[in-house]
Amino acid sequence: MSRAATNLQIDSARLWGAIHETAQFGATPKGGVRRLTLSAEDKQVRDWFRKACEDAGLEVQVDALGSMFGLRKGRDMSKPPIGVGSHLDTQPTGGKYDGVLGTLAALEMVRTLNDAGIETELPICICNWTNEEGSRFAPAMMASAAYVGDFTTDDILSRKDAEGVTVAQALDTIGYRGDAPVGRQKFTSFVELHIEQGPILEAENKTIGVVDSGQGVLWYDGKITGFESHAGSTPMPLRRDALATLSEIVLAMESIAKKHGPKAVGTIGEAVIAAPSRNVIPGEIAFTVDCRSADAAIMDALDRDLRAAVSEIAAKRKVEVQLDLVWRKAPTHFDPKLVDAVENAAKQLGYSHRRITSGAGHDACNLNTVMPAAMVFVPCKDGISHNELEDAKQTDCAAGANVLMHTVLALAGVAS
Ligand code: GLV
Ligand code: MN
Ligand code: MN
Repeated sequence: MSRAATNLQIDSARLWGAIHETAQFGATPKGGVRRLTLSAEDKQVRDWFRKACEDAGLEVQVDALGSMFGLRKGRDMSKPPIGVGSHLDTQPTGGKYDGVLGTLAALEMVRTLNDAGIETELPICICNWTNEEGSRFAPAMMASAAYVGDFTTDDILSRKDAEGVTVAQALDTIGYRGDAPVGRQKFTSFVELHIEQGPILEAENKTIGVVDSGQGVLWYDGKITGFESHAGSTPMPLRRDALATLSEIVLAMESIAKKHGPKAVGTIGEAVIAAPSRNVIPGEIAFTVDCRSADAAIMDALDRDLRAAVSEIAAKRKVEVQLDLVWRKAPTHFDPKLVDAVENAAKQLGYSHRRITSGAGHDACNLNTVMPAAMVFVPCKDGISHNELEDAKQTDCAAGANVLMHTVLALAGVAS
């Protein structure tokens, strides 16, 4: 590699500026971002990203699920590009960094290569994957899951949000249903930078997480059918209370996850009483379950124990509980050679680092099933994410972007 390429550093102020400029799209009063996938705010950030890509000389393609690909040509166009990027959608009460850092660091890398006049052997393609978060449409990471063939494009297009709007309608509303068939954009490999979203790097005072694995995920939709009746006149032993049932399920999930811990977590994140009223015993509740582990055997045990607990609670309370598994994602073991490439880049740049397992799901986890993939983590304040308080240091974001860029340069090769 030439000296210019070896010593190359991204422009930390420009990356920081882009993160904060785009944070205005869906900015919340508490300093976070609400940018649900395929919403009006998502269109704003997509338009910004498309223009920034075009200004950087990239050829932008949008696929049938709205994922955006900006191609920077390499000397050898006979090989697929190195893919880099993340997502620009957020949680309903999300932060400024989850997904955004990885997408805008990919853009910053291209801007830096352009400024330095560096051509790579292989092309580079920067990506914004649709609906990583999964809070408007399930499952999370749906576009990269369709990309790797876990779902058909039509299946994903027909998924509905809570208001009954389909993915197809939402894409058409914002004008992001692209022409490119899902999966047409091929990659040689894929690298994603992300904030850790957990407490480990900060606690150990490490700048870079070299991500070698990721937790598997189980998502369920649940429905409890009890019986609505008068809150004043129904004696306690005669009740078939859906909310009391859910309370037991929540506590059961907590103790099951603890029993299989520390490598297991379980969460009931949504619960909706069908017809809430202060003086009616809840008769029907819809709820969701998210449980995760990096160990496939523990995932099986979580599933088994949760189903057993739910049946026992339902029988005891004489209610019906339906529990449907709507998504199962196996644990990820990232490509060892790519993980080494990330580690080497961190070492060469002199950043403190450690290997780490991702607690969150990422598009790179899906992509790793069909191509070599890897991830770079940087710390976030108090390990907080999926919260408007999410925060990260400019120096850490820049360090992560430098590791990302040098990993990509090692994979793409510098021409001449
Ligand atoms: C995505 O943010 C997930 O891990 O649920
Ligand atoms: Mn994310
Ligand atoms: Mn997220």
